[in-house]
Amino acid sequence: MWFITAATDYHGTARFASQALLLRNGLRRPLLGGSVLPLRLGWRTPATRVISAWVVTARLRWLAMASVYIEDIAQHEGKEVTLQGWLYNKRSSGKLHFLQIRDGTGVLQCVVFEKDVPPEQFMLADHMTQESSLIIRGTVRADSRAPLGYELSVKDLQLIQVADPYPITPKEHGVAFLLDHRHLWLRSSRQHAVLRVRSTIIRSCRDYFDGKGFTLIDAPIFTPAACEGTTTLFVTDYFGEQAYLTQSGQLYAEAGAFAFGKVYCFGPTFRAEKSKTRRHLTEFWMIEPEVAFMDLAGDMDLAEDLVAYVVQRTLRERRRELEHLERDMAALERVQKPFPRITYTEAVERLRTQAFTIEWGADFGGDEETAISNAFDRPVLVHRYPVECKAFYMKADPQDPRLAMCVDMLAPEGYGEIIGGGQREDDPATLERKIEAHHLPQDAFAWYLDLRRYGSVPHAGFGMGIERLVAWVCGLHHVRETIPFPRMLERLRP
Ligand code: 4AD
Ligand code: MG
Repeated sequence: MWFITAATDYHGTARFASQALLLRNGLRRPLLGGSVLPLRLGWRTPATRVISAWVVTARLRWLAMASVYIEDIAQHEGKEVTLQGWLYNKRSSGKLHFLQIRDGTGVLQCVVFEKDVPPEQFMLADHMTQESSLIIRGTVRADSRAPLGYELSVKDLQLIQVADPYPITPKEHGVAFLLDHRHLWLRSSRQHAVLRVRSTIIRSCRDYFDGKGFTLIDAPIFTPAACEGTTTLFVTDYFGEQAYLTQSGQLYAEAGAFAFGKVYCFGPTFRAEKSKTRRHLTEFWMIEPEVAFMDLAGDMDLAEDLVAYVVQRTLRERRRELEHLERDMAALERVQKPFPRITYTEAVERLRTQAFTIEWGADFGGDEETAISNAFDRPVLVHRYPVECKAFYMKADPQDPRLAMCVDMLAPEGYGEIIGGGQREDDPATLERKIEAHHLPQDAFAWYLDLRRYGSVPHAGFGMGIERLVAWVCGLHHVRETIPFPRMLERLRP
């Protein structure tokens, strides 16, 4: 029975009659999938071998049939096209089915008129569950009421698999439930919009640096020492030796800058953050430029130029996604150079006028960052924090050695720090003292000190957290939706 069903698949209607029968009996049959062939193995005769070869060829022909993507649908107005995708939503009224089909690039309304398709196919549409996979053929028609301005008049409908009842329905679900089903949640239109914005942001960052002659020098993930303090290290066993997952590629990017002039690295970084804030992940992606012969002022110029470029390009290329997320576009349009620059000391004074009781020397928390950035309509660069707030590699300000030649960029609208960086200590003796003062293992930093021994120069760089940038650009409350599979204090799965 199974075999005959498979063999008649490509005879058209017989396939749908048998399929409808199976559906009625509560059976699920992958039409183009694997179970048909293994079932057939025990039955092989010369005749079945011929038919099965033909079925496989026909299947491949089906899959190879030129199909188009929904995002390109406008190019095919008036033409007949094939789409491959999944049933996103469905609405029926008597002689009509409205199928919302998603294919990963968009969602298109496909209209099935009873008179346009064989009766079996019309009946089939009744049985299709959310996320069932299908191949659909029809004519593209302009329709001003449709979200994309087009819809498809369906002529043929081939079901690949009837999906099990889908756990994520159009009703509201709690975030914990959705995160548990992150592998499926990725398919919903909001997540889709966020991750497409992320993809464009990453491409824009890479294009920015590639276009300016930077060389990509990626840093290792396994490291023998801390870059950003010893309290947030993930420890791992490296063949009997203790190693850590990298907190930042910076130290290696510095070696790269001395070899290539201007470099960047881009990769996942890890912090065993015990904080459950909306800005913290334990695994996040950071893009880190590093430039030889650059000082703090040049570093700030670079950070500002990068962010303005990335935001404006994303706004241009992902307007539809940002509209879907109901992002305030005017706020993003204002992200133009120059960005305001204030010192840490000025920031403290501003906070005091807003009733914050902050001591000079204390680091800013999320609330302070929000209050500082609220005074500006675009990102603000806060520079020269007290050395105690910052990492061991920061160069002290020659004008006032209590200050580090560092900069944080705070995003507007309460998104907090998106960039941290600065000018590096380039004197070997001073750096050695700092490594000691921070109780860091000298042996693990011997190579890093070498950089200051063999042709040391002023140099600077920064790290930009991709997830925080995406959260801000998309206007999301929490960073957990800005990465495909978030890792947080209480989340390692899926
Ligand atoms: O300010 P951070 O710690 O700076 C560094 O790691 C430097 N070594 C970078 C450099 O100069 N090359 O981190 C840089 C950025 C932050 O501004 C923030 O955007 C992001 O990385 N970040 C995090 N993002 C998500 N979750 C976390 N736990 C993050 N910690 C830092
Ligand atoms: Mg920082």
